[in-house]
Amino acid sequence: MKATIAEVKNYVGREVTIGAWLANKRSSGKIQFLELRDGTGYIQGVILKNEVSEKDWEEARELTQESSLYVTGTVREDKRAPSGFELTVSSVEPIQIANDYPITPKEHGVEFLMDHRHLWLRSSRQHAILRIRNMVIKATYDFFNDHGFIKVDPPILTGSSAEGTTDLFHTKYFDRDAYLSQSGQLYMEAAAMAFGKVFSFGPAFRAEKSKTRRHLIEFWMIEPEMAFVDHEENLKVQENYVAYIVQEVLKNCQPELKTIGRDTSKLEKIKAPFPRITYDQAIEFLKEQGFDDIEWGDDFGSPHETAIAERFEVPVFVTEYPTEVKAFYMKPVPGREEVVLCADLLAPEGYGEIIGGSQRIDDLELMEERYRQFHLTDPSYEWYLELRKYGSVPHSGFGLGLERAIAWICGLEHIREAIPFPRLLNRIYP
Ligand code: 4AD
Ligand code: MG
Repeated sequence: MKATIAEVKNYVGREVTIGAWLANKRSSGKIQFLELRDGTGYIQGVILKNEVSEKDWEEARELTQESSLYVTGTVREDKRAPSGFELTVSSVEPIQIANDYPITPKEHGVEFLMDHRHLWLRSSRQHAILRIRNMVIKATYDFFNDHGFIKVDPPILTGSSAEGTTDLFHTKYFDRDAYLSQSGQLYMEAAAMAFGKVFSFGPAFRAEKSKTRRHLIEFWMIEPEMAFVDHEENLKVQENYVAYIVQEVLKNCQPELKTIGRDTSKLEKIKAPFPRITYDQAIEFLKEQGFDDIEWGDDFGSPHETAIAERFEVPVFVTEYPTEVKAFYMKPVPGREEVVLCADLLAPEGYGEIIGGSQRIDDLELMEERYRQFHLTDPSYEWYLELRKYGSVPHSGFGLGLERAIAWICGLEHIREAIPFPRLLNRIYP
């Protein structure tokens, strides 16, 4: 019977064959202990010299770290084993013997590990982080599907920019110019006018020359967009969504959280509603804290965001930023044109902005004015303006940066571990 390590619990007392890699090995005289992994978990295989053929014994002895094999044995319950089960091996069938696996149990430098990211993914820590990532993705689909959203996929190759032109990746589209998507938002607004409530999940590209713990060049974003939803209602969706993904990780990923040593008491506090402060209040607070490098009208840097977020144990919304520092499509606060109906959600523990969102301009004339101010003269923006001509409605949306959220939930020092193959300022290998 073929089984995965996760499935052995169903086969206690029976013989199974598992396709696996050798994570580690110990032996003492007439007994060998194989630490096996297959991607679903770990199990120890015990080989007794007297109970297997000479050939199997010798083949097991030749197995090196990360060699691949089929191993057959009887599943035994073992309360002391981390997985709760052990395999009494009756035969081994090596598939390929690995030579000099570069990642040994000793400590390696980060650059070395990043150069071997294709292999580093096999380590239990990376494995746990990426399983948590998978849980966040699953919880995202569940949350939005359960709340009446339709998933719509915006294009990756685009003719226009959503978030400003400074960090666009340029490419050729046959004999024309194109850009890699920075955000699917403009298309999601069109989709919201067709379906009401929509969400997307896809890659975003930013040619940002920032080398920080929080920036990726290629990251994944979840972008919900909702017709007939205002700024205040938008924030409610965000806090419920973020609280939900954290609670789902807590519910379903305890072994993974333990593997990475996450302090889960911090995550248990993540429940909606989240506190809100206005940009004005945030500026005042920063000044009181002695930040004299910031004036009303400036955007926040990470030290500012960290100082603001440190006051809270849950994420905090900073609302109503100056119009000047935000994107062209944000709706001004009625009666106070210098600020917009937007919010950034700042994660606790210094993880910075995990969500950017806003109510969008729905008025045609104001949007035309913004087009003039932002020089959006390219014909590739025409269709977006038409959304304000044909049944324009109040609408809002947001974008959650998946890796920022993972970095926070997992308590990672650097965002690079939150994605299988990070693209960083100086890295596109492997
Ligand atoms: O705040 P941003 O730029 O907002 C937008 O793109 C909107 N169009 C979203 C929307 O309203 N539909 O990006 C959204 C989020 C940020 O809050 C951050 O979490 C993440 O995307 N993000 C990055 N994550 C990793 N590396 C980068 N370089 C990121 N830039 C933004
Ligand atoms: Mg932002």
